[in-house]
Amino acid sequence: MRPRPIRPGIDWMGSIDWDRRLFDELIPLPDGTSYNAYLLRSNGMAAMIDTDDPAKKAELLDQLAELERLDYLIIQHVEQDHSGSAPAVLERFPNAQILCSVKAKTMIVDHLAIPEEKITTVEDGETLSLGEWTLEFIAAPWVHWPETMLTYLREEKVLFTCDLFGSHLATDELFASGNAKVSDAAKRYYAEIMMPFASQIRAHLEKLAPYEIGLICPSHGPVRDDPHAIVDAYRHWAADPPKNLVLIPYVSMHESTALMVDHLVTALTDRNIHVEPFNMTLTDLGDYAAHLVDAATVVFATPTVLVGPHPTIVFAAYLTGALRPKLKYAGVIGSFGWGSQAAERAQSLCANLKTEWFDPVMTKGLPKAETYEALDALADAIAEKHRILET
Ligand code: FEO
Repeated sequence: MRPRPIRPGIDWMGSIDWDRRLFDELIPLPDGTSYNAYLLRSNGMAAMIDTDDPAKKAELLDQLAELERLDYLIIQHVEQDHSGSAPAVLERFPNAQILCSVKAKTMIVDHLAIPEEKITTVEDGETLSLGEWTLEFIAAPWVHWPETMLTYLREEKVLFTCDLFGSHLATDELFASGNAKVSDAAKRYYAEIMMPFASQIRAHLEKLAPYEIGLICPSHGPVRDDPHAIVDAYRHWAADPPKNLVLIPYVSMHESTALMVDHLVTALTDRNIHVEPFNMTLTDLGDYAAHLVDAATVVFATPTVLVGPHPTIVFAAYLTGALRPKLKYAGVIGSFGWGSQAAERAQSLCANLKTEWFDPVMTKGLPKAETYEALDALADAIAEKHRILET
C-alpha cells in the first residue's frame, strides 16, 4: 500500500494485514487488522508517529523511500506491532530523534535494542514545534501499556491515539464514516484490549474533554473522521451500568450440561432476561468478549474433568476475570460423574471480579427433576437481581 493523504501534510503509512488471524497468539482477528503510522510534514520538518509491525517493515521503508529527512520518530507505545520497525526507520534516518514518554525509554532499550542516547523523553503536556505546527504530548497510561502517550496536533485538531480508539479491521477505506463493520470491530477491540483498563479510560476521557478533536488517528483500523462517535461509544462501554444480559459460556461432554444450559436459557427467556449461550469449543473468543462489555451476569456451565471444570471453561473463567468486565453477578452450573470441585475452582479462577455469586447447581449424571427446579430457582434469583437493569 502506498502512503495515503489524510490532510495536507498528514499521510497515513504502514500496512493493512488482510491475512492475520491471531494477535498476541490469543485474540482472533476475523477481519484482519492494520498497523497505522503517520507522517507529519510542516515547513520542511518531518515527524513520524509510530511505525509498523516488524513483519511489515519493508513496506514501511518503501513508503519512506522518497523522504529526504526525518527529524523525529515519536513512539507513543512500545508494543512491537507499532514500534517493531523503529530500528529500521532509524537505520534509514540515523539523525532522527526518538521522542517518547519517560516510562517508554527503558522499554525501547529493552524491547528494541535502540541505544538510549538516541532517545529523548517528553513529559505530559510538553509541546514540540514542527514547522508551523505544535504537537502536544498527552500521557495516557494503560491504553494499552503503562508507558503510552497520545499526541495532539493543535493547529489541525488531530489526535493520534495509538491503540486507544482503534479497531482490528483490514479495509481499503481510510476513514471510518460509512464503514458498516467498524462499530462492531471497535467494540470487540475495546473488549479484548481496553476493557481491563476501563477506570483509566474513564480518566483519560475526562482529560480529553477540553480538547477540540476533529479527527482521531489510531494505530489500528480506519481513521476516525467521526471522533465523537467513538469517544461516546467508549464513554458508554467504560462507564454505563451493565445491561439485562446473561452470558452462559459452556462446554458439554455427554449432554448433561447441555440439557441444563437449554433449560436455563428457556427459563431466563421466560422471565424477560436476555441470554446468550456460548459453546466455548466453537465460539469466537472475541465475540464472547464483546458481549462481556454489556452483560450483568455470567453463568459458567461445565462438566467435571478430573475433579475441576473442563479445561476450556478454565480458560473462559480465567479470561473473564482477566478482562475485568462490569459483571455484577456470576454462577456455575454443570455435571459430574462421581464427585466435583468444578464450581469452587471455576469461582477461584475469576475471584478478582467484584461479583455476587449465586449458589451453584451441579448434577450427578443426567439432570433430574430437582436439577431443573434448582435451575428455575437460579433463573428467579437472576430475574430479581436484573429487575432494575436496562435492556
Ligand atoms: Fe497495538 Fe498494544 O499494541
